[in-house]
Order: sequence, then C-alpha cells, then structure tokens
Amino acid sequence: MRDVAVIGIGCTQFGEHWSTSFRNLFVEAGALALEDAGVTGEQIDALYVGNMSAGRFVEQEHIGALIADYAGLASNHIPSTRVEAACASGGLAFRQAVISVASGMEDIVVAAGVEKMTDVGTGASVDTLAGAADREWEGFAGATFPGLYAMIANDYMHRYSLTREQLAQVAVKNHANGAKNPIAQFRQQITVDTVLKSSLVADPLRLFDCSPITDGAAAVVVVPLERAREFTDTPVRVLASAQASDTIALHDRREISTLDATVAAGRRAFQQAGIEHRDIDMLEVHDCFTIAEICAIEDLGFCAKGEAGKLTEEGVTALHGDIPVNTSGGLKACGHPVGATGIKQIYEIVKQIRGEATGRQVDAEIGMAHNVGGTGATVAVHILGGC
Ligand code: COA
Repeated sequence: MRDVAVIGIGCTQFGEHWSTSFRNLFVEAGALALEDAGVTGEQIDALYVGNMSAGRFVEQEHIGALIADYAGLASNHIPSTRVEAACASGGLAFRQAVISVASGMEDIVVAAGVEKMTDVGTGASVDTLAGAADREWEGFAGATFPGLYAMIANDYMHRYSLTREQLAQVAVKNHANGAKNPIAQFRQQITVDTVLKSSLVADPLRLFDCSPITDGAAAVVVVPLERAREFTDTPVRVLASAQASDTIALHDRREISTLDATVAAGRRAFQQAGIEHRDIDMLEVHDCFTIAEICAIEDLGFCAKGEAGKLTEEGVTALHGDIPVNTSGGLKACGHPVGATGIKQIYEIVKQIRGEATGRQVDAEIGMAHNVGGTGATVAVHILGGC
C-alpha cells in the first residue's frame, strides 16, 4: 500500500442556498479544491462523491455521473462514484479515495461530499433523515433522529449523572468556534441560558442541542505521498483510515450510551497510525446532537466513560483547551449538510495543520476526524498529520 496525502481542499459556505443548485454547490467546492491543489480537471483520475439522499431532497439520482458532467469532465470518461452511508457518506467517500490511491489503482483523486437539504420543508427533511435509522422498527414507530438521540441522552444522563447544563456547554463551545469560522451556518455566540430556554425538540434535547438542516459541499484532492510535493509545499498525510459498522437499530445494541462502532473504528485508526491519544492535537467529531459529542470523546478513548461532560464544563475541549474539539463549530454551528460533513471535517483538519484557520487556529500537527452514519451503524475515523 502507498502512503496518501491531501494536496488541496475546498468548501462552500454552509447554510441555506436559495440561489445555488445542488450541482453548482459541488462545482464550487470542487473548483476551490482543484485551485488549491494546483491541479486541472484533465489530471483527475477519479471522483468519489458522498451524498445521502439527493433523490429525496432535490429529486436527483445518479449523482456520480451528474457531478462529473457538471465539473466539465464528461468527455474524459473518468470513473465517478456516489458513496452513501447516511451522515457518514462524506467520511466514506474520503476513505474510498484513500483506498484507491493507496492501492495504486488511481493517482489523482477527488473526494467530495454534497447535500442540499433546504429545498424541502423540515418535516420532509426529518423524514428523509429517518431513513438512515431502521425504517421498519424505528421510523414506522414514529422515531426521528432527534427522538433517537434523545433516548441516548436520557440513558446517558441517568447512568453518568450528566447535567443539563453540561450538555448545553457543548453547544455553547461549538457556537463560540463557529462564530470564528467564515463558512459556518451559525456565527452567533450563545450562552447556556440560550440552550436551556430554546424550544424543546425531543426531551431532553432542545433546539440548540440539534445540528441544523443545511446546504453545502466540500471537496479534497488526494494523491500518493511520493507525488505530493509536485503540487504543494504543504501536503497533509493520511495516517489512518478506519471504518466500522453496528446494528442499524438502536434497540438492538449492547447498550445505547456507547457507540461500539466508534470504539472499533477509533481503535483501528490508532493502531494504523501507530500513535497514542496524547499525540492528537485536535478533533472534529460528529456532534449531530450535543449528546453525540459527549459520547464520541469517550468512545474514541480521550477520557473514561462519564467524564466528557466535566471536561467540557472545565474548558478542556474548548478552542484553547488541552484537546480542542470541533474547532470548525462542528455540525452544531458550522452546519450539517449530511453528505458533505465528513469531507468538511477533513477540510477543517487540513486548514488547522497548514496553519490557515485564521481566528480559530490551534497548535495542530495531528488531527482526528470522526464521522457517524445514523445512530452509529456506520462510523469512519481518519487521522491526518503534517509532513
Ligand atoms: N440550532 C440553532 N438554531 C436553529 C437550528 C439549530 N439546529 N435549526 C433552526 N434554527 C433556527 C433558524 O435559524 C430559525 O431562526 P430565525 O427564526 O432567527 O430565522 C429558527 O431556528 C427556526 O428555524 P426552522 O428552520 O423553522 O427550524 P425547525 O423547527 O423547522 O427545525 C430542528 C429545527 C431542530 C427540528 C431541525 O433543525 C432538525 O431536525 N435538526 C436535526 C437534523 C438531523 O437530524 N440531522 C441528522 C442528524 S443524525
């Protein structure tokens, strides 16, 4: 297997894009990534595009071909493949690109993610997202993602005495980071009181415990490490690419406050990279709801079970804490265009490692990305480092 490096990154503004179509969101992010990499369209060997549900959000399927066409690459006839794993679609698209380059099959590969969710109303959007859970046993019984994560939150709070205020601190921290990120959907600071007084969505989760519904796209260019310096002076090396799965339904799990797929993918990633927790300088984790960030920090092994609420309260995970978590603002404040999120996490880590995260820069040589599909039925974990 060959070592792989990221040589270029691009991302659209996250938010509501009334005047930009699904395909043009991708084109914008892709063009930014190619420009950043110093690569032309003709040089690309393959495309992998993370997308969860364009069929339901914008009534468009066959995304691989569409994206290659609108990127101006139809006449090159390159392989272009859609990758779907619900909210982990972006993370898995990145992993497919890495595997392809590592194997020697392809050399210059674009991994992207795109989702346009706001063309339908909240009800349709929430119902589409519910398709990432078990439709027969969860969806048809009325469960939505806020409801399923609320069950995790209730179980967790009962087991580990997490307070409502500690949970709110996750959102406060991520909004503080998002306020410093020009691509973030929400750029306003909030307080614990903002969270506690926001409307109840699914007890105990309130509006400000939830990631929003978002349009956006992100893209990165990967090449063999040995060729990276042909294109850039600042390549970022992929140190690990791990993936794990679990039962699709929450009620079939061993227990619901631990995401075993996160535990498995995290362990595999550390093993591949040959590093330890103290070597990681920053984390982008999948905070689709505030409770998800608490679980992720613990399940990845950064503290013992039951301790992440206290760490958050003490500022350990804040921008200038010992282990900054979600410097981008996370899904909560940066936004969550589901197919694009996993690629945006890679984008943020590369920005941080290259020292380009103006206004929210941390001291980062190595970063970890954690991307979850559903309530943890698919998890992708990547580790990247400067070289
Ligand atoms: N956090 C903070 N503010 C939010 C928000 C969020 N998650 N979602 C919406 N808002 C704001 C809007 O900007 C708007 O503010 P304004 O009145 O100042 O313009 C206001 O709240 C109402 O927005 P609206 O779009 O009407 O919200 P909604 O009630 O239709 O939807 C949720 C809110 C929480 C139900 C929706 O965002 C949601 O379902 N989120 C979860 C998405 C999800 O499950 N993703 C997959 C995870 S696995």
